[in-house]
Amino acid sequence: MLNIENISYKVQNAQREDILQNISLSFPENKITVITGPNGSGKSTLLKLIAGILQPTSGKICLNKQDITPLSVTKRANLGITLAWQQPVRFKGITVKQLLTFANPNCAQLSTACSALARVGLCAKNYVNRLADESLSGGELKRIELACALAKGGNILLFDEPEAGIDLWSFTQLTHMFTSIQNATIIIVSHQTKILEIADYICLFQEDGSAILDTKQKLLPKIQQTPTCQKLQEEV
Ligand SMILES: Nc1ncnc2c1ncn2[C@@H]1O[C@H](COP(=O)(O)OP(=O)(O)O)[C@@H](O)[C@H]1O
Ligand SMILES: [Mg+2]
Repeated sequence: MLNIENISYKVQNAQREDILQNISLSFPENKITVITGPNGSGKSTLLKLIAGILQPTSGKICLNKQDITPLSVTKRANLGITLAWQQPVRFKGITVKQLLTFANPNCAQLSTACSALARVGLCAKNYVNRLADESLSGGELKRIELACALAKGGNILLFDEPEAGIDLWSFTQLTHMFTSIQNATIIIVSHQTKILEIADYICLFQEDGSAILDTKQKLLPKIQQTPTCQKLQEEV
């Protein structure tokens, strides 16, 4: 079980200094939790805190009762925490296959690298030897990032707006990819109704930096009635 205990994250000299304020959440094990809420409410910040890319100002993060707050990104990755970024990075001089192999050494084998790409709807022969640089479109890069996260695997899989830029790949394939993952706690940041619909639990971020987590059955109807949500769904 992943527990966020009284987490605050502040930045100095920013327009809004208190990005997350005293948040406590328990993410149910081996379930899909979709985090949603207004832009700028701190959703990506929370995923970065869980992955260890950012350190909280106060509070702690526990995985199976172990306090992982002091652990590095690498140690957390070795414990099975995997993050697929909202905005993946491009790499000059590195091929897609090499990138997949960093995520999972078994991808050095061509067939394994190709299956990883196929899982995200990419025709492997067109991509496996391509450079993971600016020659890839945003959507292609996003799918490759998803393929790397899936190839690495883990018990805690964090996906930050996985649908962003993926226009041509049907949502059914994307949602099926998530629902077919076994034995992992999946946390997805998304505004998309189709992704909210596959959630077991929803975590709703508020503009004031607070968050609530409850079952989809309880939260989805409330979210769909709020003006903020209607606005968000018009935007996407
Ligand atoms: N290092 C930083 N310095 C200043 N402001 C930041 C920093 N990191 C995040 N923010 C601000 O914190 C807020 C939350 O950001 P983010 O977690 O990316 O929001 P979300 O993913 O919910 O859209 C935003 O207003 C963002 O501009
Ligand atoms: Mg974000």
